[in-house]
Amino acid sequence: MAHLQQAVPPASPHSRQALRQQVRQFRQQLTAAEQTKAATELVRQVTSTNWLLTKQHFALYLANDAELNTEPLIQALWQAGKNVYLPVLHPFCPGYLLFLHYDSSSVMQINRFNIPEPQLNCARVMPVAALDIIFTPLVAFDATGNRLGMGGGFYDRTLAQLPAASPCQVIGLAHNCQQVAAVPAEAWDIPLQQVITPAKYFDFR
Ligand SMILES: Nc1ncnc2c1ncn2[C@@H]1O[C@H](COP(=O)(O)OP(=O)(O)O)[C@@H](O)[C@H]1O
Ligand SMILES: [Mg+2]
Repeated sequence: MAHLQQAVPPASPHSRQALRQQVRQFRQQLTAAEQTKAATELVRQVTSTNWLLTKQHFALYLANDAELNTEPLIQALWQAGKNVYLPVLHPFCPGYLLFLHYDSSSVMQINRFNIPEPQLNCARVMPVAALDIIFTPLVAFDATGNRLGMGGGFYDRTLAQLPAASPCQVIGLAHNCQQVAAVPAEAWDIPLQQVITPAKYFDFR
């Protein structure tokens, strides 16, 4: 019966965009003190997750648009002797990311989204499948691991390149206020295996 087939409506671009705007507003309203506390709590969450610290190659991101600040986490990973990588907009494949090694000597430049990224240098590119952990930014996530990003699809395209059996783990980082009841997912959305917020570690596997 036609009305039953439509019981679960497809995600409309409108509902995804409205959700993006609402959750972006929530995080933009966090105070500087709340942001600082959240970044410190994130370090505590990650460093208390012992298995994570057995890994060596970590992709991070630099915060933009009131995202959870990763700088203290990057410092903690450097101090623990880990390799850290940051996303760079792919120079020839629009919509894709490359991950470049990032250390205190990295030469940075501002990309077209006004986000600092390491200057392109082929010798510092890490193949996506060789990363152990990819920490992704996100706008909203739900209790099953669906992820809504800023709307560019960069992580969806890039993570779609991972082989199905890849041991690389994709972990979203978010403020507590970015959890929503349900993210209307699309066929191309790559779900998260885990999410870490300042208050909680979620494992959806
Ligand atoms: N693997 C992919 N191949 C081609 N296009 C993709 C892929 N993943 C996402 N896209 C495109 O990227 C655009 C943005 O994706 P969306 O999931 O809405 O963004 P975000 O994940 O940043 O919230 C969509 O128009 C979608 O068609
Ligand atoms: Mg998506």
